[in-house]
Amino acid sequence: LDELDQLALSFNQMADKLEKTEFMRRQLLGDVSHELRTPLTAIKGYMEGLMDGVMSATPETYQQVFAEADRLQRLVNDLQELSRVEAGAFSLDLKPVSINNLIETVASHLGRQFEEKGIHLQMKLDDNLPELAVDPDRILQVLTNLIGNALQYTQPGGSVYIHSTRNQNEAVITVTDTGIGIAPDQLPYIYKRFYRTDKSRSRTSGGSGIGLTIAQALVKAHRGRIWAESQGEGKGSAFHFTLPLGS
Ligand SMILES: Nc1ncnc2c1ncn2[C@@H]1O[C@H](COP(=O)(O)OP(=O)(O)OP(=O)(O)O)[C@@H](O)[C@H]1O
Ligand SMILES: [Mg+2]
Repeated sequence: LDELDQLALSFNQMADKLEKTEFMRRQLLGDVSHELRTPLTAIKGYMEGLMDGVMSATPETYQQVFAEADRLQRLVNDLQELSRVEAGAFSLDLKPVSINNLIETVASHLGRQFEEKGIHLQMKLDDNLPELAVDPDRILQVLTNLIGNALQYTQPGGSVYIHSTRNQNEAVITVTDTGIGIAPDQLPYIYKRFYRTDKSRSRTSGGSGIGLTIAQALVKAHRGRIWAESQGEGKGSAFHFTLPLGS
């Protein structure tokens, strides 16, 4: 290759890259609009029903409108967090904390929802884990997303098991559930933003596919790893993440 060829080559590569970025930007806008439209349409539908007198102004109706508005708010918050983590525009406020305390905090926070849904929550936490230098708010978020998913994707009567242990120089946290499971061919994609498996997409109460994207970015920022296992649909799932014990 002479210099001119080299220049043409890198120019084309740059053009390809820009095109790809533009494609991704457009796709993101499309995804976001789609996600926002669903609860908005529902809210407008309820309001129209109320105005036309087709629906009666019962506490249940208001409750439904409120639930949709709540979903919209959570979505906007999640989207904001997603854009922050994807741009790497956040810094970790590291302090020594007990990971077991963080797990217990999330477990007690979600405890009532577990009870209401009739899901058994069990924990086995390693008392010998030393304190870790992590950003507690971020790790609370990771735990909330994983334990929240286990709750969301497990049917009443099922169970969720949280386990912490030490493996050489890392802490390993595992959230196992007896829920809907994940087909092997979908496992690699669940961290992609807005990705939901076929099984959960057909459900009306499903999320928007942002939680794991955020969790993965936060774990990676802590120099940890996150991965999932499932024997397949209907066979439950296990999510693991690691955090370095520090040097
Ligand atoms: N414990 C689980 N069991 C089965 N499927 C799961 C589990 N956790 C995640 N998934 C699958 O991975 C997808 C992505 O999960 P993620 O948490 O990113 O998004 P979400 O739960 O759909 O929405 P949200 O943004 O509200 O968290 C889910 O839609 C679901 O299909
Ligand atoms: Mg989720």
